[in-house]
Amino acid sequence: MNRVMQSVSGLLVLGISAAAIALATAQDNTPGKPFEPRQGQPGKDVIWVPTPEATVQKMLDVAKATPDDYAIDLGSGDGRMIIAAAKRGIRGHGVEYNPDMVEYARKKAAEAGVSDKATFIQGDMYEADISKATVLPLFLLSENLERLVPNFLKLKPGTRIVINGYQIYGWQPDLTTQAEGDCGYWCTVHLYIVPAQIGGAWRIGEQTLTVKQEYQKISGTLGNQPIENGVIRGDEVSFSIGRTEYSGRIAGGEISGRTKGARSDAWSARKG
Ligand SMILES: C[S@@+](CC[C@H](N)C(=O)[O-])C[C@H]1O[C@@H](n2cnc3c(N)ncnc32)[C@H](O)[C@@H]1O
Repeated sequence: MNRVMQSVSGLLVLGISAAAIALATAQDNTPGKPFEPRQGQPGKDVIWVPTPEATVQKMLDVAKATPDDYAIDLGSGDGRMIIAAAKRGIRGHGVEYNPDMVEYARKKAAEAGVSDKATFIQGDMYEADISKATVLPLFLLSENLERLVPNFLKLKPGTRIVINGYQIYGWQPDLTTQAEGDCGYWCTVHLYIVPAQIGGAWRIGEQTLTVKQEYQKISGTLGNQPIENGVIRGDEVSFSIGRTEYSGRIAGGEISGRTKGARSDAWSARKG
């Protein structure tokens, strides 16, 4: 599919009619006039549709974003996610391919008096360094998100990815909820918490813990006993083996915690 078609199909997927596509494409900004974004205007990999304000606020609430966080929006459009975060005292930046949108977002941040906290970079979201992010409020198509998954999984465990509307293929959200009020078609918010990566072999005393991981879900064995109900939330893991429940924290190639149920004990596992 060529780029124009990609934009058009993105537009249709984003719930914009073919008539609106034609309008957004036809009403090009006149030279000399200040740039004004138009809903449905083409973008490199997805068109611009803004997240309704009520949904932006819900996304930041769901992420439990605080001034200790650093927010990055990939495909930041007019900057509203990062500007709303900055108004809550959260530093962050947006990455946007369209240079006019970048300038526009900078102007909006200045008008809101948050240019010190909210900055915008012109660039391709697939190339962006997102390693600083602890919160990613996003509005992208599932196909865009799928390409970004390898980058998401490298983020610090516990980083929250909150998405307007779309889900990441194959990765079940940790939470799905609805914004209230004036959010139109775009009220659903999905939360994904980046899990620590613990797939592979671990030693618990003399036994081998073998872990198979699929996003935040784990299965596997301890010796020859199967792991059940295995879940990772950020850097915390829990699973059960028979009637014993294991919970622990993952840090620096070690998991340590306690068991409860049939046995109540401290336990630890080492990678390898
Ligand atoms: C659906 S809009 C979301 C805007 C904003 N995040 C919001 O929620 O209001 C997607 C944005 O991604 C931008 N975009 C498309 N492809 C991109 C790419 N490869 N890199 C960076 N930005 C891109 C578009 O120009 C558009 O502004």
